[in-house]
Amino acid sequence: MKIIAIANFKGGVGKTTTAINLAAGLKNKGKKVLLIDIDPQANLTQSLGIEEFKHDIYSVVRKEAMGEETNLSEALVKASGLDVIPASLDLASAELELASVYGREHILSQLIGPLTGYDFVFIDCPPSMGMLTINALVASDYILIPLQAEFLPLKGARSFLKHFKLIQKLNKNVKLLGLVLTKYDERKKMNRQIKKELAVEFLPEKVFATQIRVNIALATAQERGTHIFDHNPHSNGAVDYADLTDEFLERMNP
Ligand SMILES: Nc1ncnc2c1ncn2[C@@H]1O[C@H](COP(=O)(O)OP(=O)(O)OP(=O)(O)O)[C@@H](O)[C@H]1O
Ligand SMILES: [Mg+2]
Repeated sequence: MKIIAIANFKGGVGKTTTAINLAAGLKNKGKKVLLIDIDPQANLTQSLGIEEFKHDIYSVVRKEAMGEETNLSEALVKASGLDVIPASLDLASAELELASVYGREHILSQLIGPLTGYDFVFIDCPPSMGMLTINALVASDYILIPLQAEFLPLKGARSFLKHFKLIQKLNKNVKLLGLVLTKYDERKKMNRQIKKELAVEFLPEKVFATQIRVNIALATAQERGTHIFDHNPHSNGAVDYADLTDEFLERMNP
């Protein structure tokens, strides 16, 4: 089982879209995948149309932090054929509550530890470096960074990578899986330029060859509460996320 955090401090760069559609792509390839929403905005949960649940990541994290008996599967729900641990706005309190807990960086890692039966676990992070993101990075084997090919998102990714070095002190095993360009438009000069810069600035093997093109169907799928393969399997979004899935699997099993 490999655990992958999908993270970037910059908001709106396609973290949640990538978590959902890469997970769906992997499921189409027969892989068992779990999605964990640790963003208090709960976009992943909402984008999969999950509205009713008894427990969520917050209730489980809270119990674990208080030393109570619990496990992640208490909060497991199925949506569009995917296994999901949902989040709700309540999760916003976790940032503060965890601040005074001993071993607070390791709560999520302890919860994921006993899980079995999955090939991949994806953690959809909020766009900030709080205790929730730190928990995700400490629990993960890899970090995947979605990124728009524009100036400010690139700055966001650089700043993220600086913090990543600090995280490696807490979790020596975590590796950068790579950067994925999202909302990519080859016609935009800035997009082409940033793509070139990325290959120079980072090792070329750290930038995914697959780019996710701008595609309105990806946004519509989220509105409809499902993934792109369900909503429109012939869209550019579906083609790109299927390509990303293949490249992801190659990178995981070279
Ligand atoms: N390739 C794409 N083409 C068009 N729209 C996209 C694409 N990828 C994502 N979007 C849309 O952009 C918006 C932001 O995407 P998403 O929620 O995945 O970003 P995020 O990084 O998770 O944001 P946040 O930081 O707020 O969690 C959403 O409305 C989504 O539907
Ligand atoms: Mg998101």
